[in-house]
Amino acid sequence: MQRLALYCCHLLLGGALALLLARSALGCPARCDCSPQTKSVSCHRKRLPTIPEGIPIETRVLDLSKNKLRIITPDNFSSFLHLEELNLSDNLISVVEPGAFRWQTCLRSLTLRSNLLTLVPPGVLSGLGNLTTLDLSHNRLVVLLDHGFQDLRQLTSLEVGDNELVFISQRAFNGLLGLRSLTLERSNLTVVPTDALTHLHNLVELRMCHLSIGVFKPYSFKRLVRLRHLEISHWQWLDTIPPLTLHGLNLTTLFITHTNLSAFPGPALRNLPYLTHLNLSYCRIQYIQYGELGQLPRLQELYLRGAQLAYIDPMAFLGLSALRVLDMSQNQLDSLEKSVLGSPENLRMLNLGSNPLVCDCRLLWLLNEQKPPLLQLGGVQPECSAPEHLRGKPLRDLKEPLISQYVTCTKPRIGPNTTQLLLADEGQPVHLTCFSEGAPQPSVAWVTPHRRFVTARNTGRVKVLADGTLEIKMAELHDSGVYLCIASNAAGNATLSASLAVKSLGISDRSLYTNRSSNYLTDSNSTWSNGTVLYNMTVPIDLKTIIISTAMGCLSFLGVVIFCFLLLFAWSRGKGRHKSNFDIEYVPRKSNGAAAEATETSGPRRVNMKMI
Ligand SMILES: *[C@@H]1O[C@H](CO)[C@@H](O)[C@H](O)[C@H]1NC(C)=O
Ligand SMILES: *[C@@H]1O[C@H](CO)[C@@H](O)[C@H](O)[C@H]1NC(C)=O
Ligand SMILES: *[C@@H]1O[C@H](CO)[C@@H](O)[C@H](O)[C@H]1NC(C)=O
Ligand SMILES: *[C@@H]1O[C@H](CO)[C@@H](O)[C@H](O)[C@H]1NC(C)=O
Ligand SMILES: *[C@@H]1O[C@H](CO)[C@@H](O)[C@H](O)[C@H]1NC(C)=O
Ligand SMILES: *[C@@H]1O[C@H](CO)[C@@H](O)[C@H](O)[C@H]1NC(C)=O
Repeated sequence: MQRLALYCCHLLLGGALALLLARSALGCPARCDCSPQTKSVSCHRKRLPTIPEGIPIETRVLDLSKNKLRIITPDNFSSFLHLEELNLSDNLISVVEPGAFRWQTCLRSLTLRSNLLTLVPPGVLSGLGNLTTLDLSHNRLVVLLDHGFQDLRQLTSLEVGDNELVFISQRAFNGLLGLRSLTLERSNLTVVPTDALTHLHNLVELRMCHLSIGVFKPYSFKRLVRLRHLEISHWQWLDTIPPLTLHGLNLTTLFITHTNLSAFPGPALRNLPYLTHLNLSYCRIQYIQYGELGQLPRLQELYLRGAQLAYIDPMAFLGLSALRVLDMSQNQLDSLEKSVLGSPENLRMLNLGSNPLVCDCRLLWLLNEQKPPLLQLGGVQPECSAPEHLRGKPLRDLKEPLISQYVTCTKPRIGPNTTQLLLADEGQPVHLTCFSEGAPQPSVAWVTPHRRFVTARNTGRVKVLADGTLEIKMAELHDSGVYLCIASNAAGNATLSASLAVKSLGISDRSLYTNRSSNYLTDSNSTWSNGTVLYNMTVPIDLKTIIISTAMGCLSFLGVVIFCFLLLFAWSRGKGRHKSNFDIEYVPRKSNGAAAEATETSGPRRVNMKMI
C-alpha cells in the first residue's frame, strides 16, 4: 500500500516534470523571438541585465547580443545541452567563471566580442570540445595565459584582435591542434609571440595587422610547418626584415604591406621556393638590386604598388619565369627596361600607372609588345610625363608612326671633349669633371687607374657626384694615373679620359695613412666605415638600457606588468592550488637609430613571474 502510494507519487511528480518540460519547450522568454523550427532564440538588443527565464532547453542557436549582461556563471547555461551557437557579443561581461560552458559539448560557435573581459583563465572554456569558432575580439585582454584554450581541439578560427594584448604566454595556444587560421590585430604586442605560435601545428593562415612590432628576430615563425599564408600589414615601425626571419616556413602567399621597409627583403625571401603570391605594397623600397628575386621560381604575382621605387637593376627579376602579374603602379619609376624582366614570356598583366614615365626608346619594347595585345597595362593607364611633346599622353595611344618619330633616344655626348690634365697636392680634394648629355640622361661611371669601377652608388673617399664629376676627398700618391669617364644610356656610350698627378708632401703619419688607404680599397661599402664607429662604441649596456627604457615609456610597460601581476595574483588566490610560471618578453619600440642598435645588442627584457 505504502509502495503504491510512493509509486503514484513518483508518477505524479514525473508527470509534473514532463509538463514543465513541455511548457518550457513550447515557451519563449517574454521579450525574445523564438523560432521552434530552427530551435533558435533571439534576445538581441533587449537591455537584459541577466539571462532571461524560460528559454527552451532544446535551443540550438541563442543570441543574447547587445544586452547588459555582466557575468556568466556555470548555472547560466547548465540546462542547455544542445546549444550549437551562442552569441554574447556587445554586453558588459567582465567575468566568465570557470566551467561556465562545461555542458556545451555541442557548441560550435561562441562569440564574446565587444565585452569587458580582461583575462581568460584556464577552465573558462573547458568542455567546449566541439567548438570551431571563437571570437574574443574587442575586449580588454592584456595577456593570454597558459592553457587558456586547452580543450578546444576542434577550434579552426580564433579571433583575439582589438584587445590590448602586451603578452601571449608560451603555452597559451596549447591544445589548439585544429586551428587553421589565426588573426592577431590591433594589439600592443611588441614582439612576435614565437614560442606561443609553435604550438599551432596545423596553422595554415596567420594574419598580423596593425601591430607596433618594429623588430623581427631570426626564426620568428619557427615550426609552423603547415603555414601557407602569412600577412603582415600596417606595421609602421617595421623597417627591416633580417635574413632568417622567415626561415623554416613554406609559404605560398606572403603579404608584407604598409610598413616602413626601406630595403627589398631579398635575403629573407630565400628558401621560399613555393611562393606564388608576393605583396610588398606601400613601403619605402626605392631600389631593387640584381638577383634579389632570383630564388622564387614559382612566383606568379608580384605587387609593389606605392613602394617609392625609383630604380630597378637590369636582370633584377631574372629567374621569375612563372611571373604573370606585376603591379608597380604608384612609384617613382621613369622607365622599365626589358632587361629588368629577364624573361617576360608569361607576363600577362603589367601595371605601371602613376609613375613619372619618360617615353623614350627604353619603353619601345613595351609599346611594340602591345600590338599583339600580350601585356595589358592594367589599372590606371600609364602615361608619359616626359619628354615635353608627349607629356600626358597615355602609353596605349603611342602607335606608329608616332613611335618611330618621337619615342627615341639620343646617344650620350661628353663635353668639352678635351683631355683633362690635373695636378694636385697630396691630401687635397680633387675633382675630375665629366659633363654628359643625351636622352635619357646618361649615367656616368669612372674607371680608376687601378681599374676600379666607381659609380654614383659608391660612397666613401672616391665617388661620383650627381653631375658626373669624380670626387677624391683627399688625394693620395697612388691616385695618380689615367681615369676614364664612361657615360652611357640606352642609345650607347661615350668616353672621356683624364690624367691626375698627385704631388707628395711627405706626410709622415703612416698609421693615419694606412688606415685611410685600406679604407680606400674597401670603401665601396660605406656601412663598413660606419660600422667601425659603432663597434668601438663603449657605452655600458646598463646605461643604454636605462636610456632606452626611459625613452620607450618603461613606466607604462611596468604599469601593465604590475596590472597583470595583480590579476594573476587575484586569480591564483581564487583558484588556490593553481601554479603558474611564465616569462614576459618585451622589446621596447625603437625611436631612432641609436636605440635600434642598442635593442639588438641588449636583447629583449625578460620579466619572470613565478606564482605559487
Ligand atoms: C561533440 O559532439 C558530439 C555530438 O554532436 C558528442 O557526441 C561528442 O562527445 C562531442 N565531442 C566532445 C569532445 O565533446
Ligand atoms: C595599448 O596601446 C594603446 C594605444 O597606443 C594605449 O592607449 C593603451 O593604453 C595600451 N594598452 C596597454 C595595456 O598598454
Ligand atoms: C620610417 O623611416 C623613416 C626613415 O628611417 C623615419 O624617419 C620615420 O620616422 C619612420 N617612421 C616610423 C613610423 O617609424
Ligand atoms: C611546401 O608547400 C608545397 C605547396 O603547398 C608542397 O607541395 C610541398 O610539399 C611543401 N614542402 C614541404 C617541405 O613541406
Ligand atoms: C596588396 O596589398 C595591398 C595593401 O594591403 C592591398 O590593398 C592589395 O589589395 C593587395 N593586393 C592583392 C592582389 O591582394
Ligand atoms: C656600352 O658599354 C657597355 C659596357 O660598359 C657595353 O656592354 C655596351 O655594349 C656598350 N654599348 C654601346 C652602344 O656601345
